[in-house]
Amino acid sequence: MDFANARPNIFLLGFMGAGKTTIGKLLAAALGMHFVDLDDMIVDYHGCSINDIFSQHGEDTFRSFETQALDRVAQASNQVVSTGGGIVGRNENWPLMQRGGLTLFLECQWETIVQRLKESTDRPLVNQNSLQELNALYQLRLPLYCQADYVVQVDGLTPPEIVEAIKKLVLKD
Ligand code: S3P
Repeated sequence: MDFANARPNIFLLGFMGAGKTTIGKLLAAALGMHFVDLDDMIVDYHGCSINDIFSQHGEDTFRSFETQALDRVAQASNQVVSTGGGIVGRNENWPLMQRGGLTLFLECQWETIVQRLKESTDRPLVNQNSLQELNALYQLRLPLYCQADYVVQVDGLTPPEIVEAIKKLVLKD
């Protein structure tokens, strides 16, 4: 990918707790790009927390808000975008990310995700589902995440090491 001229967006994909926001901020700083968190965009735009959107309007409405936010963000370039873990579930989201951008899956083992999600209270799907149900969702989504242009294994690596691994991958093409 020609970063000198095109400055494509980098869309970080992965399950809840994979570290998309933490890595996204560091990666954006390291590459001199803007950082955007898609969930934060949705919250700001609709003036409502993700939990409230789910409880007041339902998941389908959230997914529509998510696609609309993705469409808006994809109009600009030079951004590292931390997406929500469910972005891969709607077919129409893929061309939005691929147009002028690349997708990168932060692959994280289930055991690591479970540890991180234990502390989570602001994720409706974590609040509403058992660990077994979340694991089923994780398994269901894995092949979708694997459609990304790049895959980086994050287990056992520090955030700076993950950023280095990503830089090597995306800057070499
Ligand atoms: C979701 C992940 C969340 C958020 C929403 C739904 C999902 O984002 O978009 O709660 O379906 O996996 P994070 O992956 O940033 O937690």
